[in-house]
Amino acid sequence: MASPRPVRTNKTEDQITAEVVERFEGTPDPRLRRIMQSLVRHAHAFVKDVELTEAEWFQAIQFLTRTGQMCSDKRQEFILLSDTLGISMVVDLICHRKDDGITESTVFGPFHREGVAEVPMGSNIATEDPNGEPAVMSGRVLDPDGNPIQNALLDVWQADSAGLYDSQHTETENLRLRGIFRTGADGRYWFRTSRPVAYPIPDDGPVGDMLKASKRHPWRPAHVHFLVTAQGFEHVTTHVFESADKYLLSDTVFGVKDSLITDFVRRETPDELAAGMGITGPFYRANYDFFLQPARS
Ligand code: BEZ
Ligand code: FE
Repeated sequence: MASPRPVRTNKTEDQITAEVVERFEGTPDPRLRRIMQSLVRHAHAFVKDVELTEAEWFQAIQFLTRTGQMCSDKRQEFILLSDTLGISMVVDLICHRKDDGITESTVFGPFHREGVAEVPMGSNIATEDPNGEPAVMSGRVLDPDGNPIQNALLDVWQADSAGLYDSQHTETENLRLRGIFRTGADGRYWFRTSRPVAYPIPDDGPVGDMLKASKRHPWRPAHVHFLVTAQGFEHVTTHVFESADKYLLSDTVFGVKDSLITDFVRRETPDELAAGMGITGPFYRANYDFFLQPARS
């Protein structure tokens, strides 16, 4: 007996999109449903817009495969991809809408580490960076009215004078150029470090290949990372950027905001604060106040 003719299922490109969107209609979690349906619509629109070829789609799959394979506990290639595509900064802007005058956030980046010790105010976090130019950073942690916040924690991390984070050095696992500082009743903080330098993000993987193919540079302007937390306030993940840096307008991860730029002023002789931190010659001085948003329910 002849088998029945199969039902015809020819579809247009737009009908496939509609059918896939419909297939997610039963997703119980409404947020997941919205995300998946929107993702499908936008991904299909992109494929149709550029008329993606099979070879290009396979190349994209290989690129994403290599991106995953590059990830380890020391290397987060997907964060680099998100950052260099500007997605991290769009998410940042959506998620951290703050009142005027509150310190703005920026990308977290892949180099924050857990297990960093709280150290006394005024500590030198750059003892293992002998080639760094000495710098002193100071300022206050304040509420929106300018009142000091006591017991605020400033988790600080930065690259060394060679432009590398501790986790990028292969010879040691040691935590370097990191520290956690706790403010006193005056809300003040101060510590010694190395003058931050511009550095390229790791570009020996697929993200670096993408940058090279697009004639984009991999550099970030000089900065120091801060994660500032205090009870009763929203935390802020941010950087303080050096105003003299030539990459401020072309940060490869789009992380610069005007309000986060400050001067690192060269001084030929140490002032009292610098001398108290063991600085004997020329050094750089930067001041930056953090304003925290009171916690919203
Ligand atoms: C960083 O500033 O540490 C960073 C941010 C994004 C990508 C790579 C590094
Ligand atoms: Fe950084």
